[in-house]
Amino acid sequence: MIAAAFAPAHAGPSAAPSPYSMACQSCHKPDGSGVRGVFPRISSRLGAAAQTAEGRKWLIATVLFGQSGAIVVDGKPIRSAMPAFARLSDSPVAETLNWLLAGAGKPFNAAEVAAMRAQPGMSAAKVGQMRAGLAKAGTIK
Ligand code: HEC
Repeated sequence: MIAAAFAPAHAGPSAAPSPYSMACQSCHKPDGSGVRGVFPRISSRLGAAAQTAEGRKWLIATVLFGQSGAIVVDGKPIRSAMPAFARLSDSPVAETLNWLLAGAGKPFNAAEVAAMRAQPGMSAAKVGQMRAGLAKAGTIK
């Protein structure tokens, strides 16, 4: 039953896997386009991050630990926080990121998520600091 609940919905190219529809789309919208100045667009802008080791850790960490701190997305500041989704197990987290990244970079897997989950001292604020480093380096726009 649990496996069925997390099975990806292959209804069409824009159909989100069910962890995304249950946990993410209320804020980021079903297609990941977000709400400008409120919830960041997460579709079609995180591919570069998915191709670096630090960026991959950050992407996984946003889901597991949330993120806080001021950011700028699509030219608009966002001063908000994303809640942590540590309750999602490793495979659904990997599956959600793979759907979101749509083939940019190598696929995420459960082991990569488990390794990030085991990192000590993580918090939404720490994830915000990871992001600041990546934004400074131009990996996140
Ligand atoms: C309650 C609203 C909410 C939900 C639900 C939510 N997010 Fe977020 N998310 C945010 C906000 C707000 C930010 C920006 C936080 C900040 O200002 O640093 C964010 C940031 C992100 C980022 C980083 C974007 C960037 O450029 O920094 C990613 C990736 C992300 N969310 C993915 C997800 C995924 C995947 C899920 C589902 C597991 C999810 N979010 C659920 C509100 C939400």
